[in-house]
Amino acid sequence: MSLLFRIRDDIHSIMERDPAARTRLEVLLCYPGLWAVWIHRVSHWLWRHKLRLPARILSQVGRFFTGVDIHPGALLGRRLFIDHATGVVIGETAIVGSDVTIYQGVTLGGTGKGHGKRHPTVCDGVFIGNNANVLGNVTVGENSRVGAGSVVLSDVPPNSTVVGVPAHIVYHNGQRVLITDPHEIKDPLSDALIALSSRVDELEERLGSQRRPAEQFTVEAAEREAYREKLERLRQYVSMGEGI
Ligand SMILES: CC(C)(COP(=O)(O)OP(=O)(O)OC[C@H]1O[C@@H](n2cnc3c(N)ncnc32)[C@H](O)[C@@H]1OP(=O)(O)O)[C@@H](O)C(=O)NCCC(=O)NCCS
Repeated sequence: MSLLFRIRDDIHSIMERDPAARTRLEVLLCYPGLWAVWIHRVSHWLWRHKLRLPARILSQVGRFFTGVDIHPGALLGRRLFIDHATGVVIGETAIVGSDVTIYQGVTLGGTGKGHGKRHPTVCDGVFIGNNANVLGNVTVGENSRVGAGSVVLSDVPPNSTVVGVPAHIVYHNGQRVLITDPHEIKDPLSDALIALSSRVDELEERLGSQRRPAEQFTVEAAEREAYREKLERLRQYVSMGEGI
């Protein structure tokens, strides 16, 4: 595929995705995210040809001019759109598919613990909102969306939307996903909820044998109602004497 075709393909994909882009010339001159991807293509070529230091230097020059730090070892697919560019970091073993959109401040990084493949794999058509972090060797499935400010620490199935810290699914295949089981959200509060709900279960079990039959509650309710009516009659009787 010719270089010219790829350049036009990149510019065209930005015009399609960004309503603020008015002309091809504007995209060419005013989109540092686009320059970052092009600089990466050269630095990745150097990296693959074992010219590791020149590759690293070029990627740092790119970072200086664009605010996007892409390690030359990262594998990027076609038509990656990094909107607003500033503060995006893509780690060495990250793999990014085609037609991916990334906003400012996104990190595709490691957790600081792993070796080998320690950065995420982002599949085709994924959208990642601003300042989201996708950490570790996790996979974000095709056409999924990651909410702004989310922290993704585990795999995201295809066609899903995830939000929050840590991220949890809110949409899957166009259907709203409502979390009813605290095990599905792994944060410190959900641990407290799990402990509380198992305590409630335990207490219910203990009370189970002592529960009174339903008819006993019905009788009590009728008695209470009769008592309330009696009180109401008394109240009316007393208020009739007011002011005498
Ligand atoms: C994640 C996102 C794509 C979801 O959009 P959507 O499909 O329209 O989803 P909804 O607005 O119906 O939200 C679904 C639920 O997730 C919550 N939610 C949405 N985005 C969230 C976010 N970033 N963080 C936390 N919760 C979020 C909503 O409050 C809602 O919860 P509720 O139903 O309990 O009230 C969108 O909210 C988002 O974050 N877009 C990023 C935009 C961005 O980066 N812009 C930068 C411009 S410079």
